[in-house]
Amino acid sequence: METIRGKRLSLLIKEEDIKKRVKELGREVERDFATSKELIVVGLLKGAFIFMADLVREIKLPLKIDFLWVSSYGQSMESSGNIKIVKDIDVDIEGREVLLVDDILDTGLTLKEIYEFLRIRNPSKLKTCVLLDKKERRKVDFNADYVGFEVPNLFLVGYGLDWGELGRNLPGVYAVED
Ligand code: XMP
Repeated sequence: METIRGKRLSLLIKEEDIKKRVKELGREVERDFATSKELIVVGLLKGAFIFMADLVREIKLPLKIDFLWVSSYGQSMESSGNIKIVKDIDVDIEGREVLLVDDILDTGLTLKEIYEFLRIRNPSKLKTCVLLDKKERRKVDFNADYVGFEVPNLFLVGYGLDWGELGRNLPGVYAVED
């Protein structure tokens, strides 16, 4: 039984199921960006790093990667809804085709704000991809173009998601039990 800080973790999504779904997402992205000469995949640090590493290897198109580092929850389990850019992307996305990748869409505050932050730089195409979607928690009108799994309103760790920086290296997605 896996634990973090004495709390038990229950397996929600198995490693093999993630692998299978990431392959499918790769096919969907390839289909929509088939004419792209050079796709730019932008990941949100730190949570998206594992998902993005697996996803880009399933997209058989010429692409470049970059990362945006946005401030996280810290030790807390609640979003502040007050996003801070710790590090911007280095690449100029004007007129370029961009795929924005995050680990989880929860209230939607983060991705909606980052989407706008990138959109005003005038990319020719901007789509969003998340591994997990906690739809029932949404506070703003925002949905991702590609979603791996819809998940219930539980605090999740693993496959890049953390609780106070722990748990990112777990190969599956786990719920932290109360
Ligand atoms: P919002 O609420 O802005 O949140 O959509 C998106 C960001 O919040 C983090 N997040 C989580 N992190 N387990 C985590 O480890 C969770 O259950 C969870 N829910 C939200 C995540 O960093 C995401 O980018």
